Amino acid sequence: MKLRARHLFALFLPVLLTVATGALPASATKAITAPELTSAELAKAAQDFTTYCSVCHGRDARGNGPVASELKTPPADLTGIAARAGGEFPADAVFKTIEGLDMPAAHGTSEMPIWGALFVRQAVGEGVLIEDAKTAARVATDRIKHLVRYLETIQEK
Ligand code: HEC
Repeated sequence: MKLRARHLFALFLPVLLTVATGALPASATKAITAPELTSAELAKAAQDFTTYCSVCHGRDARGNGPVASELKTPPADLTGIAARAGGEFPADAVFKTIEGLDMPAAHGTSEMPIWGALFVRQAVGEGVLIEDAKTAARVATDRIKHLVRYLETIQEK
């Protein structure tokens, strides 16, 4: 019997997230390496940034998106991550902030949304078999890694 993900989604969400966590190397102790991207991949990551992040962080990533003034915590200037970390871009920490799967459940004060679960859900999408959840998790991981790499390319020296 072939079960479609959309029928099972509610039921399998916890499983999916577990699978996702298992497939996300950054959630373990291993350091992530943001990959070198082709220009097409970088353009896609920049597009993801515009779609999902610029509303708060601004198109130029400096923290002044259209809803920034509505937030209690000001969105970070994402061009200064490396500078704030003493010059070295902390790819691991950035990955975890974006992915969000290892955040404590009661992370009540953060206004920074998390993207791991959403990107997995989008990758599973309509008509993808539940057996492909692992692939979906990998797609989501890569997408976040590409965002991390994109952010690395826009750091102020
Ligand atoms: C709803 C507003 C909002 C959206 C959308 C948003 N962020 Fe954020 N982000 C914040 C806020 C506010 C902070 C400040 C830190 C906090 O809340 O802990 C932040 C912090 C961060 C940080 C930590 C920076 C640092 O140096 O501490 C990173 C990295 C980041 N965001 C990346 C992203 C990415 C990538 C996206 C899109 C996939 C995104 N954000 C979407 C509001 C947002």
